[in-house]
Amino acid sequence: MIRRHRGFMLKLAVAGALAGALAGVGCGGGGGVTIIETGAGAGGGTGSGGAAGAWTWSLPAGFPTPAVPADNPMSEAKVDLGRFLFFDRRLSGNGTQSCASCHQQDKAFTDGFATSRGSTGEFTHRNAQPLANVAYSPMLTWANPSLLTLEKQMEVPLFGENPVEMGINDGNKAEVLQRIATQSLYQTKFSAAFPGEASPVQWANVVKAIASFQRALISGNSKYDQFIAGKGTLTPTELRGMNLFFGEKAECFHCHGSPNFNDQFVHATTRVLETPFHNTGLYNIGGTGAFPEPNRGVFELTGLPKDMGMFRAQSLRNIAVTAPYMHDGSIATLEDVLDFYAAGGRNITSGPHAGDGRKNPLKSDLITLITLDAQEKADLVAFLKTLTDHDFLTNPKFADPFK
Ligand code: HEC
Ligand code: HEC
Repeated sequence: MIRRHRGFMLKLAVAGALAGALAGVGCGGGGGVTIIETGAGAGGGTGSGGAAGAWTWSLPAGFPTPAVPADNPMSEAKVDLGRFLFFDRRLSGNGTQSCASCHQQDKAFTDGFATSRGSTGEFTHRNAQPLANVAYSPMLTWANPSLLTLEKQMEVPLFGENPVEMGINDGNKAEVLQRIATQSLYQTKFSAAFPGEASPVQWANVVKAIASFQRALISGNSKYDQFIAGKGTLTPTELRGMNLFFGEKAECFHCHGSPNFNDQFVHATTRVLETPFHNTGLYNIGGTGAFPEPNRGVFELTGLPKDMGMFRAQSLRNIAVTAPYMHDGSIATLEDVLDFYAAGGRNITSGPHAGDGRKNPLKSDLITLITLDAQEKADLVAFLKTLTDHDFLTNPKFADPFK
């Protein structure tokens, strides 16, 4: 498959699991898009790793078995514990915030804000991301080619200082853990999730349990999925939208064509993995190609000019409930997103970010003027709305256990 976009190239030898093998990935940036993965594949996916309560994936049709790090196999007990921790505000320095403060189930685990407010009032730089099917993402967050596992990513909200999110630091780390350790509910659940460990209430196990809960967040029962499975129908406008989405006029599928409607998708038996990032022409400050700090995409990490404005294509599952859109929440509605794509970028005419993104020199070749008429835009929006999985948004297994 030939792709015209710029992306990120690295080579990995991965024997089954993601964990250790992914250490040492450099931030090379742009150029190619191929990760070559060798090895047998399906490590750690079946829950035989010693933890209580074997795990069986119940996956929608067409969903491959996710890759799971060898040192954190799935188990029912771990997913159950992780759910409690994910929703527990005691897990923040000042006791005001949980993961779910910014990742709410009814919004597909986003929070409805352009950027989110951490536990001490500081704002995040970027828009909170949905967590549906995050088990399939080889690289996490909007533009960080070095965050490769959920376990590693979690250090950012828990312990991060720029900005402070959950506000756990060296000064309160022991105390926060103690709040958890003294609850009999947690004593039981940690012992069940990490059997045989003398003192299982440890930060490393907190992280493992929450990561397991997140891997269990599978969404694949939308109206679109039912249609594909032959169990439902789409209206004429939704069908026209689908054909546009997967066709060469609108070109959406090039970057949103995986089972998770993005283009970074890994699973237990992946052999060749592409991890592209794209500049979609959202900005072009003063005609220099620049994006606003500190949201300049992969460039923030690499400092390489070619990585300016390079972001990950976001999954479009449940997209109707995850507004506002884009890495900085700068587009309010799906209709506005379609106007943006139809124009082939965004022209900002005044203010500090003024500049014509349509002419950004690093913009992907796949983002061009595509003269969609009003009906075609409406059709595409109608199709995107078929990607909402109401079962996922209301599944009691993913709901706040403290309510
Ligand atoms: C203050 C709000 C906030 C809190 C609290 C928070 N997050 Fe996030 N989360 C975000 C934002 C913002 C992003 C996007 C980060 C970026 O790109 O820089 C994000 C991204 C993520 C991602 C990446 C998803 C993807 O598709 O790549 C995961 C996973 C995640 N968060 C899990 C968690 C977990 C687990 C917790 C609790 C330990 C948590 N978050 C707490 C705001 C928050
Ligand atoms: C060149 C690759 C590419 C193509 C083609 C593309 N997208 Fe995107 N899409 C992206 C990237 C990258 C982002 C995130 C951009 C950012 O935030 O800076 C994105 C973001 C989005 C979002 C917002 C997601 C969110 O959660 O905020 C929607 C909706 C979307 N695209 C729909 C579409 C539709 C509809 C089409 C076809 C008309 C399309 N995309 C074509 C790469 C692409």
